[in-house]
Amino acid sequence: MRKPIIAGNWKLNNNIQESVDLVTLLKRELTDLTGVDIVVCPVSTALSVVQDLLLESNIDVGAQNVYWEDSGAFTGEVSAPLLKDLGVKYCIIGHSERRQYFGETNETVNKRIKAALKHDLIPIVCVGEVLEERESGKAFDVISKQCEESLAGLTEEEAKKLVIAYEPVWAIGTGKTATPEQAQEVHKFIRDFLRKTFSDAVADGVCIQYGGSVKPDNIAELISQEDIDGALVGGASLKSEAFIEIVKQSSNSTQVTRNGI
Ligand code: 13P
Repeated sequence: MRKPIIAGNWKLNNNIQESVDLVTLLKRELTDLTGVDIVVCPVSTALSVVQDLLLESNIDVGAQNVYWEDSGAFTGEVSAPLLKDLGVKYCIIGHSERRQYFGETNETVNKRIKAALKHDLIPIVCVGEVLEERESGKAFDVISKQCEESLAGLTEEEAKKLVIAYEPVWAIGTGKTATPEQAQEVHKFIRDFLRKTFSDAVADGVCIQYGGSVKPDNIAELISQEDIDGALVGGASLKSEAFIEIVKQSSNSTQVTRNGI
């Protein structure tokens, strides 16, 4: 029912040549896949060249952040209409690294989501707890607050357009993945939140990705969980072979579920 989305978050990696090389390989190997939506999120200096290379392909492009004002005296920022102007389709919002290093809060995440939606960009909204919150049994409180405050004031129609990424901070770049059961538990919690806050249609339609040390050898088990609809991949998205393998396995898993086998 929900088509999985595999998105590569390249973070602050890959210059223009490296981006071109990576995308050229992805385009060649992933061209025939239809069971999965594929997204790459390069650094902002490579967005234009990557977008041009992927025109008319089955791979979409996302930015890693967006400012909430359209234009004006906001040195260093990039706005939603400018991303739209480039042809970008998605935008990661509220990644834990932005929360940790750049002062991102649920309130600023909320403003960015509204700006993205206003200009027809699909927000990939990141939520997730840090290790001490999980260990002290507060993970669900934290995620509930992040969802409530980040999605405050959205209409049902707007909420239908979201992608949510659950990224436990303790699993990002650590090689330590949440178990499929741990991830599924949180994904279901987020889906229940969407059902309670918006509607069945929102809860049943929104893709909830998992992120945190996703690799070719753990994607199949993660994506086989009922409420896990794809992945936001960091480190492994920088290696063509690993990312291609993750995408292919996700596409196969959809075909299997769709056929009810
Ligand atoms: P890793 O896959 O490197 O753990 O990063 C996950 C992430 O932060 C994706 O946004």
